Amino acid sequence: MLEETIEPQTEQEPKARTWDAAVVGAGYVGVPLAHTLASAGRSVLLIDVSEDVVHALNRGESHIMDVPSEELGPLVEDGRIRATADYNELRNADAILIALPTPLSKQREPDLSILVDAVEQIATRLRNGHLVILESTTYPRTTREVVQPILERTGLKAGRDFHLAFSPERVDPGNETWTTQNVPKVVGGITPACTERAAQLYEGAVKTVHRVSTPEAAELTKLLENIFRSVNIALVNELAQLCERMEIDVWEVIEAAATKPFGFMSFQPGPGLGGHCIPIDPFYLTWKAREYDFYTEFIELAGKVNENMPYYCRSLISQALNHGRQRSLNGAKVLVVGVAYKADIADTRESPALKLIKLLRGAGADISYHDPFVPELREASLKSVDLDPTAYDCVVIVTAHSHIDYTDLVEKAHVIVDLRNATGPDGRRNDKVWTL
Ligand SMILES: NC(=O)c1ccc[n+]([C@@H]2O[C@H](COP(=O)([O-])OP(=O)(O)OC[C@H]3O[C@@H](n4cnc5c(N)ncnc54)[C@H](O)[C@@H]3O)[C@@H](O)[C@H]2O)c1
Repeated sequence: MLEETIEPQTEQEPKARTWDAAVVGAGYVGVPLAHTLASAGRSVLLIDVSEDVVHALNRGESHIMDVPSEELGPLVEDGRIRATADYNELRNADAILIALPTPLSKQREPDLSILVDAVEQIATRLRNGHLVILESTTYPRTTREVVQPILERTGLKAGRDFHLAFSPERVDPGNETWTTQNVPKVVGGITPACTERAAQLYEGAVKTVHRVSTPEAAELTKLLENIFRSVNIALVNELAQLCERMEIDVWEVIEAAATKPFGFMSFQPGPGLGGHCIPIDPFYLTWKAREYDFYTEFIELAGKVNENMPYYCRSLISQALNHGRQRSLNGAKVLVVGVAYKADIADTRESPALKLIKLLRGAGADISYHDPFVPELREASLKSVDLDPTAYDCVVIVTAHSHIDYTDLVEKAHVIVDLRNATGPDGRRNDKVWTL
């Protein structure tokens, strides 16, 4: 079988240094990936268009919280990690791992322009024996229908001259228990030999490698995981709204249901979805499904419920102000506590706080925010202020960072809207605390 005959290229380039892997995109995914591979003894080149990111990484300074500079520094010093903005250096790497953003367009359709541009750059440096792995989240068939044809324009053929696979990144920023190193890696290649070569790159660096038969299976695996979260979050968000009408404490119900040792997994309601994954990835599948005359109704319905949450929260805040302060949103001083998209991280991408701030401002509220992880919120032209709840008509807890004293907050604030159950059962029993 031709595909079994591929040998990684061993051609000597006397002056150029060679790398076991190059990771294209030094962000939330790329840096932990490079760190994991380098910690297992691989040499890794990080490629990023941002010169600032490149220079900082080469000084051993990490901009990604999950990889502290104290851990990155020694790897850079030992020469096991280096960063560059020069795609030409890809020629000196055995494997090329792509960890680039895959956003949605304004019309909520997949925007693969960053990926396509980068793959075109990679193609001009592709050589016999290269291994190319796509790690970015995307719809099934991207590897085969988008990446492979661009790479094959070179005359080289996937599975014969170079290896090509998809392996989804499953990193959960801020999660200290589950890291790139110990979350199993799913790998699916264009051919069995592609799967095997990709699996071998990860083996020894990550704890478990799970092989699937095709890149499509690997692509859809990642989407299933995120759709599962989106749908279940929508379910409890809907239930939270019903519970408000029925005067049932939704948090108490979820806590009670979670005592069942099997068949139930607990999800929490909240002000909306955030981050680079859950609000975006499911719509990659919705878009692709249409090509097959198929409508992914669970995804659309979950999107509808989750996207309505900031509006629902605005009306909750308005009610809390009416009852607790006898005033309207218009002109009220509101302090938003926590603007990152989830607790204990600094990432504000797609954060529900952004939408909520916009809606509250639209209703005439005067907004300030406090977030120990986010000193400045450029999207809202705001800077984090000190936590002085007495100075505001209403305090809204949007993200429940762990180092905030919520008991003190409840004591001092005039009115609190707690969208995360940060104040717990005591808060829920307190008349000045409004919860979902
Ligand atoms: N962040 C997460 O929690 C997470 C988790 C799992 C999967 N993913 C997926 O991983 C992929 C990457 O996401 P991320 O969060 O790491 O993105 P990111 O925005 O943190 O990082 C991307 C990096 O790529 C760089 N870049 C942009 N264009 C480039 C180009 N043409 N060449 C080289 N570098 C370029 C940017 O400067 C940036 O540093 C996405 O598909 C995302 O959906 C993200």
